[in-house]
Order: sequence, then C-alpha cells, then structure tokens
Amino acid sequence: MKVGQEHYRSIWQEGDAVRIIDQTRLPHEFIVVTLETLEQSATAIRDMWVRGAPLIGATAAYGMAIAMRADSSDAGLRHAHDTLMATRPTAVNLRWALEHMLALLAPVSPAERAAVALARAAAIADEDVAINSAIGDHGLTIIQEIAARKAGPVSILTHCNAGWLATVDWGTATAPIYKAHQAGIAVHVWVDETRPRNQGAHLTAWEMASHCIPHKLIVDNAGGHLMQHGEVDMVIVGTDRTTAGGDVCNKIGTYLKALAAKDNGVPFYVALPSPTIDWRVLDGVADIPIEERSGDEVSFVQGKLADGTVTRLRISPEETPAANPAFDVTPARLVTGLITERGVCAANVQAMAAMFPDRVAS
Ligand code: MRU
Repeated sequence: MKVGQEHYRSIWQEGDAVRIIDQTRLPHEFIVVTLETLEQSATAIRDMWVRGAPLIGATAAYGMAIAMRADSSDAGLRHAHDTLMATRPTAVNLRWALEHMLALLAPVSPAERAAVALARAAAIADEDVAINSAIGDHGLTIIQEIAARKAGPVSILTHCNAGWLATVDWGTATAPIYKAHQAGIAVHVWVDETRPRNQGAHLTAWEMASHCIPHKLIVDNAGGHLMQHGEVDMVIVGTDRTTAGGDVCNKIGTYLKALAAKDNGVPFYVALPSPTIDWRVLDGVADIPIEERSGDEVSFVQGKLADGTVTRLRISPEETPAANPAFDVTPARLVTGLITERGVCAANVQAMAAMFPDRVAS
C-alpha cells in the first residue's frame, strides 16, 4: 500500500537484498532495514521490527534463504529452522513457513539451497498478497450489504494491527476496508489503541491516515460503550492462529470485543488467511501457546515529545511488577464468520473442512 506517493510492501527484495520496514519506529520514523544474517532475521521477528502473523511467516521464509547464503549444509538448514522457530510462539504462520521451507530444501543439494529458498520466499510473499486481496473481495461483499441497509458510513471496529504492515500487503482485517474505500463506500474505522504495544495507535492509525480513510483512535475499553450506542456496524479482526474448530487466537483484548459484540448483536468477523489455520488443534483455549512478553511493555509507553524526540516513559511505580500475556482466544461461538481467501464460512469444524477439504488432514 502507499507511503506518501510510493507503493510499498512490508517486506521486499531489491536484487538479492531483503528489506523490511522497522515497525518499532512507526508512526514517527520510517526506517528501512536490510536483513543480512540469520541472527538479524530472528531478532527482527522476536523484537517485532516485523510482526503480524502473515508477515512473521514471510520473514521467516526469507530468513531461511538468508541463512542458506552463509551455511547451506544440512546442519545449517536445521539450525536456521530451529533459530527462527524459537522467535515467537503464537502465530502459526511461523511454523507453517518454516516446515514448508524445510521440506522444500532438505532434498535440494546444498549448492542450490540459497537460490531455491529465495525464490520460494518470494513466492510465499506474492501468495500472501493474493490471499489478502481475495479476503478483501469477500469482506467487501459484507460491507456492501451493511451499506445497502443503512444511511451514513459503515462503522467498523478493529483491534491491533491486521493491516498491510502485518501482512506483505493489503492486510487481512483491513483488506475489505481498503477495497470498500476504493469502491466509494463510506466507511469509518474505530481503531483500538491496543495496549500494551499500541499497534492500533502506532500502526493501524498510521495506515488509515496514509490512505485518507476516516477513522478515530479509541482506548481499548471504549468498544463496548460504542456498541451499546449503535456506533459499530461490524467488528473485523485478524488472527494469529485459528483452530480447526474456529477458535480464534488474536491480540490480547480481542476476546472482550467479541463478548461485547455478542451482547449487542454486532457481527464479529475474523479475516483469516488459510496459513493461519492450525489444523492440528481443536481447542484454542487449552492448546494454543500464548506468548508472555516482557512486563516492560506494560510499564512503559513509547511516544514523541513536543521537541520531536521519540522516547519511552514509565507509567507505573518502579516496584510494581507487570504481567503481559500478548494474545487471547475468542471461542468459535462468538465468531459470526471467517473471511477467508476462498469465501466466508462459519467458525466450526464442518464449515471449515468444507471450505478447505484439501488442507484439513495436512
Ligand atoms: O504481536 P503482534 O503485533 O504480532 O500481533 C498481531 C496481531 O495480533 C494481528 O491481529 C494478527 O497477527 C493478524 S495480522 C493479519
């Protein structure tokens, strides 16, 4: 999508160089980083220079390609896989991409591995763009139906950043929003700030502003109130891992939005690329690993001072410890529908298996 007048993806190649945007610096600074080593690629994922489930998967694929330039032996292949796999636990796209790359590269001769890996990483990135564009088309249909029933803009609440920065392009939750905006449908987006790391305030708001999409930033706790007063027509969120039964793991706080949506009869949709489905897991609350991040992310906030300096500030007493579970699970019963690249389906075993009969046993 656009940054100023230029089109960017969140990860791209210039020749053999792999570049990313350092998302820890947005919205105040736009810094491009070249990934040069396996270790740096792992740091980029772990420290969230890149983040969002699909982009984590694409970066891991590129990280394997970068690692093969330095050591393409069998031991090097396994080491690259294990190093990248240990970066973040929740988004299943990481495992999906790494298992895919390992299976692809293991039978290839070491001399050819770097080139084969780079080509496949590029293909994974392109596939992600196509998937998200298709999610946008299917989600657009839902927005069009709502627009046809009401006067004024369609009001959409989203949580965290499931935008183009979280994918290679388009975003998942934002793809229908971008497509609706392009189609001339009036939309208004409620952007949850998404504590503790404020991906909504830092990233989704920046995306919406860059594309001139009407939006307002709200504190995480405002959603229920807005729904009670008829100010939200639908919720669309992304997901880091969705089970074969439709339980949805996403950024902490998503579950509370789903509860409020259910209580107020507001449709709650999840935009879901198929690599984000974990067909090996059924019960999301019991079986999805939830990342526990540093308490510092809760105790400090990052922002810009009046003089333009970007800094972090402590907001709690020094002696107060903080807990920081980064994701929660929304049970399938609270989900109105899954917007996938193949169409919209119900969040249950039968509907998901019918939508992806070729994947269900994999
Ligand atoms: O911790 P993050 O920023 O990687 O979490 C991102 C999310 O929770 C997104 O909603 C999810 O990955 C879907 S991205 C299309």
